[in-house]
Amino acid sequence: MTPAVRLYFTGTCDGFETLRAALAEHADVDVVGWSAHVAQATGPLAGGHLECVIHATGANDFPAAEVAAIREHTRAPVILVASGSEAAAMLEAALATDVADVLLLPQLTHNVLFAIRKAAHARRQLETAAHRGRVVTVFSPKGGTGKTVVSTNIAASLAKRDGRRTLLLDLDLQFGDSAIVLGIEPEKTIFDLVVGPGELDAEKVAGYVSRHPCGLDVLPAPLRPEDAELVTEAKIIALLEVVRGSYDAIVVDTSPFFHGPMLATLDRTDELLVLCGLDIPTLKNVRLALQTLELLSFPTSRIRYVMNRVNSNLGLKTREVEEGLRVKVACELPMDRRVQVCVNRGEPIVLAEPRADFSGAIASLARMVVPPAPTTSKQAHHRRLSFAKA
Ligand SMILES: Nc1ncnc2c1ncn2[C@@H]1O[C@H](COP(=O)(O)OP(=O)(O)OP(=O)(O)O)[C@@H](O)[C@H]1O
Ligand SMILES: [Mg+2]
Repeated sequence: MTPAVRLYFTGTCDGFETLRAALAEHADVDVVGWSAHVAQATGPLAGGHLECVIHATGANDFPAAEVAAIREHTRAPVILVASGSEAAAMLEAALATDVADVLLLPQLTHNVLFAIRKAAHARRQLETAAHRGRVVTVFSPKGGTGKTVVSTNIAASLAKRDGRRTLLLDLDLQFGDSAIVLGIEPEKTIFDLVVGPGELDAEKVAGYVSRHPCGLDVLPAPLRPEDAELVTEAKIIALLEVVRGSYDAIVVDTSPFFHGPMLATLDRTDELLVLCGLDIPTLKNVRLALQTLELLSFPTSRIRYVMNRVNSNLGLKTREVEEGLRVKVACELPMDRRVQVCVNRGEPIVLAEPRADFSGAIASLARMVVPPAPTTSKQAHHRRLSFAKA
Protein backbone atom coordinates (compact mmCIF):
# COMPACT_ATOMS: atom_id res chain seq x y z
CA MET A 1 0.00 0.00 0.00
CA THR A 2 1.37 3.46 -0.87
CA PRO A 3 1.77 5.66 2.21
CA ALA A 4 -0.56 8.66 2.57
CA VAL A 5 0.81 11.85 0.99
CA ARG A 6 1.67 14.54 3.56
CA LEU A 7 -0.17 17.57 2.27
CA TYR A 8 -0.33 21.26 3.21
CA PHE A 9 -2.75 23.92 1.92
CA THR A 10 -1.99 27.62 1.46
CA GLY A 11 -4.01 30.51 -0.01
CA THR A 12 -7.72 31.00 -0.63
CA CYS A 13 -10.18 30.91 -3.52
CA ASP A 14 -13.81 30.06 -4.19
CA GLY A 15 -14.46 26.39 -3.62
CA PHE A 16 -11.15 25.78 -1.82
CA GLU A 17 -12.76 25.17 1.56
CA THR A 18 -14.99 22.46 0.07
CA LEU A 19 -11.99 20.84 -1.61
CA ARG A 20 -9.96 20.91 1.63
CA ALA A 21 -12.81 19.29 3.54
CA ALA A 22 -13.19 16.56 0.90
CA LEU A 23 -9.44 15.80 0.84
CA ALA A 24 -9.20 15.75 4.65
CA GLU A 25 -11.65 12.84 4.62
CA HIS A 26 -9.51 10.81 2.28
CA ALA A 27 -7.17 8.05 3.48
CA ASP A 28 -4.66 8.64 0.63
CA VAL A 29 -3.65 12.01 2.05
CA ASP A 30 -2.46 13.13 5.44
CA VAL A 31 -3.48 16.78 5.78
CA VAL A 32 -0.92 18.62 7.90
CA GLY A 33 -2.76 21.99 7.90
CA TRP A 34 -3.83 25.16 6.10
CA SER A 35 -2.74 28.82 6.16
CA ALA A 36 -4.47 31.57 4.23
CA HIS A 37 -1.09 33.30 3.77
CA VAL A 38 2.20 31.63 2.90
CA ALA A 39 4.01 33.87 5.40
CA GLN A 40 2.03 32.27 8.25
CA ALA A 41 3.06 28.77 7.20
CA THR A 42 6.86 28.88 7.48
CA GLY A 43 6.96 26.34 10.38
CA PRO A 44 5.08 23.49 8.65
CA LEU A 45 6.49 24.32 5.21
CA ALA A 46 10.05 24.10 6.51
CA GLY A 47 9.71 21.36 9.11
CA GLY A 48 6.65 19.34 8.09
CA HIS A 49 8.37 16.88 5.73
CA LEU A 50 5.65 17.71 3.20
CA GLU A 51 5.18 15.72 0.03
CA CYS A 52 2.80 18.16 -1.68
CA VAL A 53 1.63 21.75 -1.20
CA ILE A 54 -1.63 22.95 -2.75
CA HIS A 55 -1.75 26.71 -3.17
CA ALA A 56 -5.09 28.36 -3.99
CA THR A 57 -5.48 31.66 -5.77
CA GLY A 58 -8.60 33.61 -6.66
CA ALA A 59 -6.63 36.11 -8.77
CA ASN A 60 -6.29 35.87 -12.52
CA ASP A 61 -2.52 36.35 -12.49
CA PHE A 62 -0.03 33.61 -11.72
CA PRO A 63 0.93 33.92 -8.00
CA ALA A 64 4.67 34.06 -8.67
CA ALA A 65 5.58 35.67 -5.32
CA GLU A 66 3.62 33.08 -3.29
CA VAL A 67 5.10 30.13 -5.21
CA ALA A 68 8.60 31.58 -4.69
CA ALA A 69 7.86 32.02 -0.96
CA ILE A 70 6.75 28.37 -0.68
CA ARG A 71 9.93 27.30 -2.51
CA GLU A 72 12.09 29.09 0.04
CA HIS A 73 10.95 26.57 2.63
CA THR A 74 10.23 23.28 0.91
CA ARG A 75 11.14 21.22 -2.11
CA ALA A 76 7.74 19.47 -2.09
CA PRO A 77 5.83 19.65 -5.38
CA VAL A 78 3.38 22.58 -5.59
CA ILE A 79 -0.04 22.24 -7.20
CA LEU A 80 -1.99 25.41 -7.97
CA VAL A 81 -5.75 25.51 -7.75
CA ALA A 82 -7.46 28.58 -9.15
CA SER A 83 -10.96 29.92 -9.35
CA GLY A 84 -10.19 32.98 -11.54
CA SER A 85 -11.42 33.08 -15.12
CA GLU A 86 -8.16 33.75 -17.05
CA ALA A 87 -7.12 30.11 -17.00
CA ALA A 88 -5.04 30.17 -20.18
CA ALA A 89 -2.67 32.88 -18.94
CA MET A 90 -2.28 31.09 -15.60
CA LEU A 91 -1.40 27.78 -17.28
CA GLU A 92 1.09 29.49 -19.59
CA ALA A 93 2.88 31.15 -16.66
CA ALA A 94 2.89 27.92 -14.64
CA LEU A 95 4.67 26.08 -17.47
CA ALA A 96 7.64 28.38 -17.04
CA THR A 97 8.01 27.44 -13.35
CA ASP A 98 8.36 24.20 -11.43
CA VAL A 99 4.67 24.10 -10.44
CA ALA A 100 3.63 20.44 -10.79
CA ASP A 101 0.04 21.07 -11.93
CA VAL A 102 -2.67 23.71 -12.28
CA LEU A 103 -6.30 22.78 -11.60
CA LEU A 104 -9.27 25.04 -12.12
CA LEU A 105 -12.03 24.71 -9.53
CA PRO A 106 -14.51 23.17 -9.25
CA GLN A 107 -12.94 19.73 -9.73
CA LEU A 108 -13.96 16.24 -8.77
CA THR A 109 -12.05 15.24 -5.63
CA HIS A 110 -10.57 12.17 -7.29
CA ASN A 111 -9.09 14.33 -10.10
CA VAL A 112 -7.28 16.44 -7.49
CA LEU A 113 -6.23 13.30 -5.62
CA PHE A 114 -4.78 11.87 -8.80
CA ALA A 115 -2.76 15.06 -9.40
CA ILE A 116 -1.48 14.97 -5.78
CA ARG A 117 -0.45 11.31 -5.96
CA LYS A 118 1.20 11.79 -9.35
CA ALA A 119 3.25 14.77 -8.13
CA ALA A 120 4.28 13.04 -4.88
CA HIS A 121 5.15 9.81 -6.71
CA ALA A 122 7.37 11.70 -9.20
CA ARG A 123 9.19 13.36 -6.29
CA ARG A 124 9.66 10.05 -4.43
CA GLN A 125 11.13 8.47 -7.56
CA LEU A 126 13.55 11.36 -8.00
CA GLU A 127 14.69 11.02 -4.40
CA THR A 128 15.15 7.25 -4.66
CA ALA A 129 17.17 7.63 -7.85
CA ALA A 130 19.61 10.00 -6.17
CA HIS A 131 21.70 8.34 -3.43
CA ARG A 132 20.50 9.75 -0.13
CA GLY A 133 22.17 8.99 3.15
CA ARG A 134 19.98 8.87 6.25
CA VAL A 135 20.14 11.83 8.60
CA VAL A 136 19.93 10.75 12.24
CA THR A 137 19.60 13.68 14.64
CA VAL A 138 20.21 13.11 18.34
CA PHE A 139 18.39 15.73 20.39
CA SER A 140 17.38 16.47 23.95
CA PRO A 141 15.99 19.73 25.30
CA LYS A 142 18.17 19.38 28.40
CA GLY A 143 21.96 19.54 28.75
CA GLY A 144 23.93 16.54 29.95
CA THR A 145 21.35 13.89 28.99
CA GLY A 146 23.90 11.98 26.90
CA LYS A 147 23.48 13.39 23.35
CA THR A 148 27.20 13.39 22.64
CA VAL A 149 27.80 9.93 24.10
CA VAL A 150 24.88 8.50 22.13
CA SER A 151 25.62 10.26 18.82
CA THR A 152 29.36 9.45 18.84
CA ASN A 153 28.71 5.81 19.71
CA ILE A 154 25.94 5.33 17.15
CA ALA A 155 28.22 6.87 14.52
CA ALA A 156 31.19 4.67 15.53
CA SER A 157 28.96 1.58 15.51
CA LEU A 158 27.65 2.35 12.01
CA ALA A 159 31.16 2.99 10.68
CA LYS A 160 32.97 0.08 12.33
CA ARG A 161 30.41 -2.67 12.95
CA ASP A 162 28.14 -2.07 9.97
CA GLY A 163 30.75 -0.76 7.52
CA ARG A 164 28.57 2.21 6.57
CA ARG A 165 30.08 5.42 5.22
CA THR A 166 29.27 7.61 8.19
CA LEU A 167 29.70 11.29 9.02
CA LEU A 168 29.32 12.66 12.53
CA LEU A 169 28.27 16.30 12.36
CA ASP A 170 28.64 18.32 15.56
CA LEU A 171 25.91 20.96 15.54
CA ASP A 172 26.39 21.86 19.20
CA LEU A 173 27.99 24.85 17.53
CA GLN A 174 29.16 26.77 20.62
CA PHE A 175 30.29 24.05 22.98
CA GLY A 176 30.42 20.88 20.90
CA ASP A 177 32.73 18.23 22.32
CA SER A 178 32.26 15.23 20.04
CA ALA A 179 35.87 15.46 18.79
CA ILE A 180 37.24 15.24 22.35
CA VAL A 181 34.91 12.36 23.20
CA LEU A 182 36.30 10.53 20.14
CA GLY A 183 39.89 11.39 21.04
CA ILE A 184 40.40 13.50 17.92
CA GLU A 185 42.39 16.72 17.76
CA PRO A 186 40.84 18.35 14.71
CA GLU A 187 42.85 20.54 12.38
CA LYS A 188 39.70 21.88 10.76
CA THR A 189 36.11 22.29 11.87
CA ILE A 190 32.71 23.00 10.35
CA PHE A 191 33.54 26.71 10.75
CA ASP A 192 36.59 26.39 8.47
CA LEU A 193 34.47 24.46 5.97
CA VAL A 194 31.73 27.06 5.69
CA VAL A 195 34.03 30.09 5.53
CA GLY A 196 36.65 28.39 3.32
CA PRO A 197 36.90 29.37 -0.36
CA GLY A 198 35.33 27.38 -3.19
CA GLU A 199 32.03 25.68 -3.85
CA LEU A 200 30.63 23.42 -1.15
CA ASP A 201 30.71 19.97 -2.72
CA ALA A 202 31.64 16.43 -1.61
CA GLU A 203 35.32 16.96 -2.47
CA LYS A 204 35.53 20.09 -0.41
CA VAL A 205 33.83 18.38 2.56
CA ALA A 206 36.34 15.50 2.29
CA GLY A 207 39.16 18.04 2.74
CA TYR A 208 37.72 19.29 6.05
CA VAL A 209 36.60 16.13 7.88
CA SER A 210 38.77 14.35 10.47
CA ARG A 211 38.99 10.58 10.11
CA HIS A 212 38.67 8.44 13.26
CA PRO A 213 40.63 5.14 13.16
CA CYS A 214 37.31 3.22 13.09
CA GLY A 215 36.56 4.72 9.66
CA LEU A 216 34.19 7.40 10.92
CA ASP A 217 34.43 10.91 9.42
CA VAL A 218 33.89 13.76 11.87
CA LEU A 219 33.05 17.39 11.20
CA PRO A 220 33.67 18.97 14.60
CA ALA A 221 32.06 22.09 16.08
CA PRO A 222 33.94 25.42 15.79
CA LEU A 223 36.83 25.75 18.24
CA ARG A 224 35.66 29.18 19.47
CA PRO A 225 32.03 29.82 20.54
CA GLU A 226 31.99 33.19 18.75
CA ASP A 227 32.55 31.44 15.39
CA ALA A 228 29.26 29.55 15.73
CA GLU A 229 27.12 32.33 14.28
CA LEU A 230 28.88 32.09 10.91
CA VAL A 231 27.59 28.53 10.57
CA THR A 232 24.24 29.72 9.29
CA GLU A 233 21.03 27.91 8.43
CA ALA A 234 21.73 28.37 4.70
CA LYS A 235 25.20 26.79 5.07
CA ILE A 236 23.75 23.81 6.94
CA ILE A 237 21.09 23.29 4.26
CA ALA A 238 23.77 23.28 1.56
CA LEU A 239 26.04 21.00 3.61
CA LEU A 240 23.33 18.42 4.33
CA GLU A 241 22.34 18.28 0.67
CA VAL A 242 25.96 17.53 -0.25
CA VAL A 243 26.75 14.96 2.45
CA ARG A 244 23.53 13.06 1.88
CA GLY A 245 24.94 12.26 -1.54
CA SER A 246 28.29 10.99 -0.30
CA TYR A 247 27.55 9.18 3.01
CA ASP A 248 25.19 6.35 3.98
CA ALA A 249 24.53 7.92 7.36
CA ILE A 250 24.91 11.40 8.82
CA VAL A 251 24.65 11.41 12.61
CA VAL A 252 24.05 14.86 14.09
CA ASP A 253 24.95 15.84 17.65
CA THR A 254 23.01 18.90 18.84
CA SER A 255 22.66 21.48 21.60
CA PRO A 256 19.49 21.65 23.71
CA PHE A 257 17.99 24.51 21.62
CA PHE A 258 15.88 25.02 18.50
CA HIS A 259 18.13 27.51 16.62
CA GLY A 260 18.14 28.17 12.86
CA PRO A 261 20.69 25.47 11.87
CA MET A 262 18.81 22.97 14.05
CA LEU A 263 15.50 23.75 12.31
CA ALA A 264 17.18 23.32 8.91
CA THR A 265 18.51 19.96 10.12
CA LEU A 266 15.11 18.86 11.39
CA ASP A 267 13.67 19.48 7.95
CA ARG A 268 16.17 16.99 6.55
CA THR A 269 16.07 14.52 9.44
CA ASP A 270 14.97 10.96 8.72
CA GLU A 271 15.27 9.78 12.31
CA LEU A 272 15.00 12.08 15.31
CA LEU A 273 16.25 10.43 18.50
CA VAL A 274 14.86 12.29 21.50
CA LEU A 275 16.89 11.51 24.58
CA CYS A 276 15.03 11.38 27.90
CA GLY A 277 16.22 10.84 31.45
CA LEU A 278 14.38 9.66 34.51
CA ASP A 279 14.17 13.09 36.15
CA ILE A 280 11.30 15.55 36.20
CA PRO A 281 13.12 18.67 34.82
CA THR A 282 14.25 16.70 31.75
CA LEU A 283 10.77 15.29 31.23
CA LYS A 284 9.22 18.77 31.56
CA ASN A 285 11.55 20.00 28.81
CA VAL A 286 10.88 16.94 26.64
CA ARG A 287 7.15 17.70 26.86
CA LEU A 288 7.78 21.33 25.79
CA ALA A 289 10.05 20.19 22.95
CA LEU A 290 7.36 17.81 21.70
CA GLN A 291 4.93 20.75 21.58
CA THR A 292 7.42 22.73 19.48
CA LEU A 293 7.91 19.76 17.15
CA GLU A 294 4.14 19.58 16.77
CA LEU A 295 4.00 23.30 15.92
CA LEU A 296 6.63 22.64 13.26
CA SER A 297 4.46 19.73 12.01
CA PHE A 298 7.46 17.41 12.40
CA PRO A 299 6.10 13.90 11.60
CA THR A 300 5.74 11.85 14.79
CA SER A 301 6.59 8.71 12.80
CA ARG A 302 10.18 9.99 12.55
CA ILE A 303 10.67 10.39 16.30
CA ARG A 304 12.12 7.65 18.50
CA TYR A 305 12.47 8.04 22.23
CA VAL A 306 15.66 6.87 23.89
CA MET A 307 15.76 6.56 27.66
CA ASN A 308 19.24 6.99 29.12
CA ARG A 309 20.52 5.81 32.53
CA VAL A 310 17.47 3.56 33.06
CA ASN A 311 18.98 1.75 36.02
CA SER A 312 19.83 4.89 37.95
CA ASN A 313 17.11 4.24 40.54
CA LEU A 314 15.76 7.78 40.73
CA GLY A 315 12.23 6.79 41.70
CA LEU A 316 10.82 6.86 38.16
CA LYS A 317 10.37 4.00 35.69
CA THR A 318 10.37 4.03 31.88
CA ARG A 319 6.74 2.87 31.87
CA GLU A 320 5.67 5.86 33.98
CA VAL A 321 7.43 8.20 31.58
CA GLU A 322 5.73 6.52 28.62
CA GLU A 323 2.36 6.98 30.25
CA GLY A 324 3.09 10.59 31.27
CA LEU A 325 4.31 11.67 27.83
CA ARG A 326 2.02 9.29 25.91
CA VAL A 327 4.96 7.94 23.89
CA LYS A 328 6.66 4.59 23.39
CA VAL A 329 10.36 4.31 24.29
CA ALA A 330 12.30 2.60 21.48
CA CYS A 331 15.56 2.01 23.34
CA GLU A 332 16.74 1.89 26.94
CA LEU A 333 20.39 2.58 27.78
CA PRO A 334 21.79 1.54 31.14
CA MET A 335 23.92 3.73 33.36
CA ASP A 336 27.44 2.29 33.29
CA ARG A 337 30.55 3.90 34.77
CA ARG A 338 32.55 2.53 31.82
CA VAL A 339 30.72 5.11 29.63
CA GLN A 340 32.34 7.89 31.62
CA VAL A 341 35.73 6.11 31.70
CA CYS A 342 35.65 5.79 27.88
CA VAL A 343 34.66 9.45 27.49
CA ASN A 344 37.66 10.45 29.59
CA ARG A 345 39.91 8.19 27.50
CA GLY A 346 38.53 9.58 24.23
CA GLU A 347 37.34 6.13 23.08
CA PRO A 348 33.79 5.20 22.04
CA ILE A 349 32.54 2.51 24.42
CA VAL A 350 31.04 0.51 21.50
CA LEU A 351 34.62 -0.05 20.30
CA ALA A 352 36.43 -0.30 23.65
CA GLU A 353 33.84 -2.45 25.46
CA PRO A 354 31.70 -4.05 22.76
CA ARG A 355 30.23 -6.57 25.22
CA ALA A 356 28.89 -3.98 27.65
CA ASP A 357 25.08 -3.79 27.75
CA PHE A 358 25.31 -0.11 26.83
CA SER A 359 27.27 -1.00 23.66
CA GLY A 360 24.82 -3.76 22.69
CA ALA A 361 21.87 -1.38 23.05
CA ILE A 362 23.64 1.29 20.97
CA ALA A 363 24.51 -1.20 18.21
CA SER A 364 20.84 -2.29 18.00
CA LEU A 365 19.68 1.32 17.99
CA ALA A 366 22.16 2.13 15.19
CA ARG A 367 20.72 -0.71 13.08
CA MET A 368 17.19 0.38 13.87
CA VAL A 369 17.79 3.87 12.48
CA VAL A 370 20.14 2.90 9.64
CA PRO A 371 19.34 -0.69 8.63
CA PRO A 372 22.35 -2.70 7.37
CA ALA A 373 22.91 -2.56 3.62
CA PRO A 374 21.47 -5.59 1.79
CA THR A 375 24.32 -8.05 1.15
CA THR A 376 25.09 -8.58 -2.51
CA SER A 377 25.11 -12.16 -3.81
CA LYS A 378 28.91 -11.83 -4.32
CA GLN A 379 29.41 -10.91 -0.65
CA ALA A 380 27.14 -13.76 0.47
CA HIS A 381 29.11 -16.19 -1.73
CA HIS A 382 32.41 -14.92 -0.25
CA ARG A 383 30.98 -15.36 3.27
CA ARG A 384 29.87 -18.95 2.50
CA LEU A 385 33.35 -19.75 1.14
CA SER A 386 35.20 -18.33 4.15
CA PHE A 387 32.80 -20.23 6.43
CA ALA A 388 33.51 -23.47 4.52
CA LYS A 389 37.28 -22.92 4.86
CA ALA A 390 37.11 -22.32 8.61
N1 LIG B 1 24.45 5.77 30.33
C1 LIG B 1 25.41 6.46 30.90
N2 LIG B 1 26.16 5.93 31.91
C2 LIG B 1 27.13 6.62 32.52
N3 LIG B 1 27.48 7.88 32.20
C3 LIG B 1 26.79 8.47 31.20
C4 LIG B 1 25.74 7.81 30.51
N4 LIG B 1 25.25 8.65 29.58
C5 LIG B 1 25.96 9.79 29.67
N5 LIG B 1 26.89 9.69 30.65
C6 LIG B 1 27.85 10.71 31.07
O1 LIG B 1 27.16 11.93 31.28
C7 LIG B 1 27.91 13.04 30.85
C8 LIG B 1 27.08 13.87 29.90
O2 LIG B 1 26.91 13.15 28.69
P1 LIG B 1 26.96 13.90 27.29
O3 LIG B 1 28.13 14.83 27.23
O4 LIG B 1 26.85 12.87 26.25
O5 LIG B 1 25.61 14.76 27.40
P2 LIG B 1 25.09 15.87 26.40
O6 LIG B 1 23.63 15.71 26.35
O7 LIG B 1 25.83 15.81 25.13
O8 LIG B 1 25.49 17.20 27.19
P3 LIG B 1 25.52 18.70 26.60
O9 LIG B 1 24.11 19.15 26.54
O10 LIG B 1 26.34 19.44 27.63
O11 LIG B 1 26.19 18.62 25.27
C9 LIG B 1 29.17 12.49 30.20
O12 LIG B 1 30.24 12.66 31.05
C10 LIG B 1 28.86 11.03 29.97
O13 LIG B 1 29.98 10.23 30.10
MG1 LIG C 1 26.95 17.25 24.09
